Amino acid sequence: MSAASVAPTAGGVTQVVGSVVANDPVGAYRHLVISAPGVAELASPGQFVALAVGGPTSATLLRRCFSLHRVDAGRGTVEVVIAAHGPGTTWLTQVRVGDPVDVVAPLGQPFPLPAEPTACVLVGGGYGSAPLFWLAQALRERGCHVELVLGAATRDRLFGVDLADGTTDGVTVTTDDGSAGHRGWVSDVLGDVITRAGATEVFACGPMAMLKSVTDVAAAHAAVAHVAVEESMACGVGVCMTCVLPITTQDGVTKMLRSCVDGPVFRGDSVRWDAFANGICHVPADTVGAPRAGGH
Ligand SMILES: Cc1cc2nc3c(=O)[nH]c(=O)nc-3n(C[C@H](O)[C@H](O)[C@H](O)COP(=O)(O)OP(=O)(O)OC[C@H]3O[C@@H](n4cnc5c(N)ncnc54)[C@H](O)[C@@H]3O)c2cc1C
Ligand code: FES
Repeated sequence: MSAASVAPTAGGVTQVVGSVVANDPVGAYRHLVISAPGVAELASPGQFVALAVGGPTSATLLRRCFSLHRVDAGRGTVEVVIAAHGPGTTWLTQVRVGDPVDVVAPLGQPFPLPAEPTACVLVGGGYGSAPLFWLAQALRERGCHVELVLGAATRDRLFGVDLADGTTDGVTVTTDDGSAGHRGWVSDVLGDVITRAGATEVFACGPMAMLKSVTDVAAAHAAVAHVAVEESMACGVGVCMTCVLPITTQDGVTKMLRSCVDGPVFRGDSVRWDAFANGICHVPADTVGAPRAGGH
């Protein structure tokens, strides 16, 4: 059992029609501040919001999910960082101050916080860095030493390098093309950062391939990885089973768990990374309830 073992507190979920307070460019992304009274006081780092997209007559019925970057209970605001990807995210990146946004939040399980002060390394890939600063703050309030590793393909796809100063005890930056920081992947530098910090806990958010590498590097350095996965979600509240992924539970059995309600944060060493190939998650044959040859 790792030191990061404080059970997440169940906060509850609310739905509110909020309004856009700010929508600013930040590198390749947009930073949205949304007035959403009642959400902030329920939320913890690692949880996410589900936002309705397209306006009241939209044919785009499914909500889109985003990690909570920051909340402010005093102002009643929540903040997200959005990359324009398809129609839903593109619509959100174009909202204007005062526009209404329908928010359901906070959803999912937060990052587990250590029971004792310990050294932690937080690893973010692209917009996956967004939830890590709030987490860093929570960890430092518990007396933890917190170092950050931020990576992206290119300089403009990094998020939060400027936020790291003053909120963490050290930051290491990587880009695939070398346009900022070390040339290469976060996994190339992570081992050294874990060793230097004496870290026993690693927290990560970003693409699945990165999360697997982070889990491997953490294990090789006797640290436990906690990863926030980003499986495609339709309902976000545990009803549709769109977001399932194979997780080895504490009894050693692999089950298909819903990343929206059982995650998105899982222990990295509980995720069956062998099930993922070419962006598709397969059901391992030893999973509870897996289809059997000749079965129905
Ligand atoms: C827990 C969680 C946290 C996320 N945090 C962020 C964030 O902080 N910033 C950000 O920019 N994006 C984030 N995403 C990804 C974001 O939700 C998708 O990019 C977005 O839903 C795509 O919607 P679209 O209409 O633009 O694209 P479309 O491709 O048209 O989306 C169609 C459907 O596929 C789903 N989908 C498509 N791509 C993804 C994806 N990469 N991950 C999950 N679902 C997907 C959508 O939810 C939608 O139901 C997060 C996703 C999850 C599950
Ligand atoms: S998205 Fe519907 S069950 Fe997870």
